[in-house]
Amino acid sequence: MLFVPQQGRLILRTEMGQIEASPTEIIVVPRGVKFAADFPDGPSRGYICENYGQPLTLPDLGPIGANGLANPRDFLYPVAWYEDYDGPCEVVAKFGGQLWRADYNHSPLNVVAWHGNYAPYKYDLKRFNTINTVSFDHPDPSIFTVLTSPSWPRGTANVEFVIFPPRWTVALDTFRPPWYHRNVMSEFMGLIYGVYDGKESFEGGGFMPGGASLHNCMAGHGPDTASFEKATNADLKPHHIDNALAFMFESRYVMRPTKFAMETKALQKDYYKCWQGLSKRFRA
Ligand SMILES: [Fe+2]
Repeated sequence: MLFVPQQGRLILRTEMGQIEASPTEIIVVPRGVKFAADFPDGPSRGYICENYGQPLTLPDLGPIGANGLANPRDFLYPVAWYEDYDGPCEVVAKFGGQLWRADYNHSPLNVVAWHGNYAPYKYDLKRFNTINTVSFDHPDPSIFTVLTSPSWPRGTANVEFVIFPPRWTVALDTFRPPWYHRNVMSEFMGLIYGVYDGKESFEGGGFMPGGASLHNCMAGHGPDTASFEKATNADLKPHHIDNALAFMFESRYVMRPTKFAMETKALQKDYYKCWQGLSKRFRA
């Protein structure tokens, strides 16, 4: 399970140790590890991805070589820790797609020591070594992959965690925001802070920190009208994107919104209008 705090700190007390994460940090808890969540800053917000496939791992770097993107040295594991607590404790487990509960008379977070590498960990997204073009055009966005759960067919993933962090954009003769596209992978996108360069000024809220967008398999998408106009007329000097941290959960599977997601007041039913101002640009 992948936790992406967006507002307020998250403290996970797990069977194997405690981990604290602030926004810009993530926590991964392997399947089956019990945990409790605390929010020391009060009401908090974030994103959670439940991975049913292979454990999340670093992507193959290919010609990038030994170093780059998320480096192994930056993943932090907790030291052993346990709770000596006798008293009522409700334990909830997910099994077969259902949630089950049980009453314990002690804390289950009572593992006094552990060894091996099946353990929760944290990673600071500010440590991501971003790679991008220094000439023209867009490399495949897979260069932004932090963690992947690989699957068949090769090149797709059960789920991938991808970030769009602060970085230089220097591409010449290129429309620099994300291009207009549709693809096999389904894309759930979130914004941890700042303004995403593909959705800059959509009236009525747009893509705000803490919000989310979903473009399922083969749903066409791209920058909104304002972002398109701005990028089309921009002077292509080196530009540093310094106030934005967006991310994607990308999957080869179609994502189905829950009933809650479809009925919440936060749903933007007029989202499609962000592209309505785009005009035909064919030459006569
Ligand atoms: Fe996309």
